[in-house]
Amino acid sequence: MEPGGHRPAEKRGGGRRRCVILSVAAGLLLVTVAVVLGLTLRQKADKLRPTFMARCKGFKGYDCEKIWEEFTQAYVGQDPCKVPMEAYDPLVAAAPLKSSCNRIMLWSKTKEMVHDFTKKKDCFITLEDTVLGFVLDGLTWCGKEGSSETFTTSCPGWTECENNPVRSFWKRASAAFADVACGDVTAMLNGSITTPFDPKGIFGSIEVKRLNSTRVSSLNIVLVTQKNAVANCRNTSLKDLQKVLDVGITYNCTEVAESQILECSSNPEIPCGACW
Ligand SMILES: *[C@@H]1O[C@H](CO)[C@@H](O)[C@H](O)[C@H]1NC(C)=O
Ligand SMILES: *[C@@H]1O[C@H](CO)[C@@H](O)[C@H](O)[C@H]1NC(C)=O
Ligand SMILES: *[C@@H]1O[C@H](CO)[C@@H](O)[C@H](O)[C@H]1NC(C)=O
Ligand SMILES: *[C@@H]1O[C@H](CO)[C@@H](O)[C@H](O)[C@H]1NC(C)=O
Repeated sequence: MEPGGHRPAEKRGGGRRRCVILSVAAGLLLVTVAVVLGLTLRQKADKLRPTFMARCKGFKGYDCEKIWEEFTQAYVGQDPCKVPMEAYDPLVAAAPLKSSCNRIMLWSKTKEMVHDFTKKKDCFITLEDTVLGFVLDGLTWCGKEGSSETFTTSCPGWTECENNPVRSFWKRASAAFADVACGDVTAMLNGSITTPFDPKGIFGSIEVKRLNSTRVSSLNIVLVTQKNAVANCRNTSLKDLQKVLDVGITYNCTEVAESQILECSSNPEIPCGACW
């Protein structure tokens, strides 16, 4: 077929004029589509900062502009598979965490239930209740070599490459959180999966290892069980956990039914310590 095969239509009487009108109309439509598409893409890329700022504003005593600057410095212009956790050291320094005794709540594979619990019972804090964890919870971001932009789509997935901006951030923030832990630390693990302790997850590879016996006296595992519970406190994976725990930290594990936690957290008269 010859290129521009639509041309013969122009040769018909009056066809040229109709064709010009059609071309103009098609051109306008194309421009409109391009503009709308361009705006949509741009809005997507620009959404991270407003979300970041709006969430940050709720935290007193932090310089959100400075935190945003340090945040973007970690990944902007970088290959999104080559951002190590250390890239966020200046960010962590710009948003220091207060030492927290007996209130630190860690979790693995129990995210929703833990946050539902800490929202209703004001006696534990998770990483997602601290400024950095709260501001970036659920978000995706990355940069690109030779670009000064922040992208929120087409970023590498959690397991696509180890040193991606999102995963490295959570590793660094989790390390900072574990570093300020003191006294008794609690962790909610999932009893409905065969290996409640995953040594490769952030809890297993970072948090547990950074708990320091000079400050932390005990790690209390709350193994949340549901009707279909498969694992209990005697599970071998939990023995592995004790092996990586700093010598001098007392380990303790309690199996608690999810229904008991839900009932307890929705009852304002029960103090938090009594949930298990
Ligand atoms: C435990 O993991 C299972 C499977 O992923 C999930 O359906 C369940 O909600 C989790 N339990 C808790 C308490 O989060
Ligand atoms: C605990 O802290 C001490 C002193 O800061 C340090 O020497 C030690 O390596 C730390 N232990 C762990 C498990 O991080
Ligand atoms: C307990 O832990 C081991 C090893 O970590 C795992 O292979 C096993 O399937 C786990 N679960 C149960 C229900 O025994
Ligand atoms: C184990 O942990 C629970 C809940 O934090 C606590 O009440 C209990 O005293 C601990 N048990 C031991 C033996 O340390």
